[in-house]
Amino acid sequence: MAEPFLSISNLRLTAQTDRGTATILRGVDLNVERGHILGIVGESGSGKSSLVSTIMGLLAPGLRTEGSITLDGVDLLRLDSAGMAALRGNKLAMIFQDPMTALNPVFRVGTQLVDVVLNRYPGTSHEEAVRRASDALVKVGLSDAARRMKDYPGQLSGGMRQRVMIAMALLCQPDILIADEPTTALDATIEAQIIDLLRRLRNEFSGSIIFISHNLGTVMQLCDEVAVMYGGHLVEVGAVRDVLAKPLHPYSRALIGCEIDDQPLDVPLAFIPGKVPETLDNPTGCIFAPRCNYATTACERSMPALRPFNGQMAACVRLEEIA
Ligand SMILES: Nc1ncnc2c1ncn2[C@@H]1O[C@H](COP(=O)(O)OP(=O)(O)OP(=O)(O)O)[C@@H](O)[C@H]1O
Ligand SMILES: [Mg+2]
Repeated sequence: MAEPFLSISNLRLTAQTDRGTATILRGVDLNVERGHILGIVGESGSGKSSLVSTIMGLLAPGLRTEGSITLDGVDLLRLDSAGMAALRGNKLAMIFQDPMTALNPVFRVGTQLVDVVLNRYPGTSHEEAVRRASDALVKVGLSDAARRMKDYPGQLSGGMRQRVMIAMALLCQPDILIADEPTTALDATIEAQIIDLLRRLRNEFSGSIIFISHNLGTVMQLCDEVAVMYGGHLVEVGAVRDVLAKPLHPYSRALIGCEIDDQPLDVPLAFIPGKVPETLDNPTGCIFAPRCNYATTACERSMPALRPFNGQMAACVRLEEIA
């Protein structure tokens, strides 16, 4: 088994609000192996974006973290803001839902790509950086790369801008590339093209990718492992084929809808009755118990930790009984 090189341990994220302490992440443990693609799925509000924003060091002011996030031996939570800024665009890079979040509207696409190369590989000549930037645009399928280099981001379509972000990631070769619902803002055809592009390019990334998506078909096509998130907890982690084919945790079962025969995988996540827990709630028992078809009194005691079962990991006390 490959060594995990991103290791998240007992990560908690809290915010002080005028209604009390909001707990956004409730003790997340997660390992990402080198070169692997990890998908994160879970309903809206489960904490997916908060988790990756914490890894990137891009949290709103006032949020408090506990635990550790170790990347190649360095605890990112112990770095100051200058240390984190130095890692972003270097060891850590992110593709956002809206590429304009990361692209600067007043600089040409080419200038921004060249800056990525020069920042990542100081000492590269300007000509070489331009050549690499242009090659990257060709690789992500943008025709007429020379013209695209001179365009401003606003002159490109959403799909083209997302291709530019992927080109940036190729140039930067981060250890961890995070993509937070990178195709949600695109129409279905362009979405399929971008996923296909990521799939074809996956061998060109030496690092690991964390991919957040609402679409199980996409996760199935792209990812090696998947983590299922609920109410600030990870409730299941495992190989994507295993988890999607035979989810263990009652929440994953409901989410993946495996109990409905012949459900196609290429559909959005299933709808589960009830609502996700509030960040202001502090339940003593299992966070999913109020919505769980399998809940018993044993589930009221405490939130179970992730534990190995049948080659996967799931956080449920009743795995043996309900398997
Ligand atoms: N700065 C903050 N202060 C208080 N609560 C916050 C803050 N940021 C996020 N939250 C809360 O944390 C919870 C998780 O939010 P997050 O955006 O991480 O969810 P998500 O899984 O990415 O959802 P979506 O699928 O809609 O993108 C939400 O209830 C959100 O309101
Ligand atoms: Mg989100």
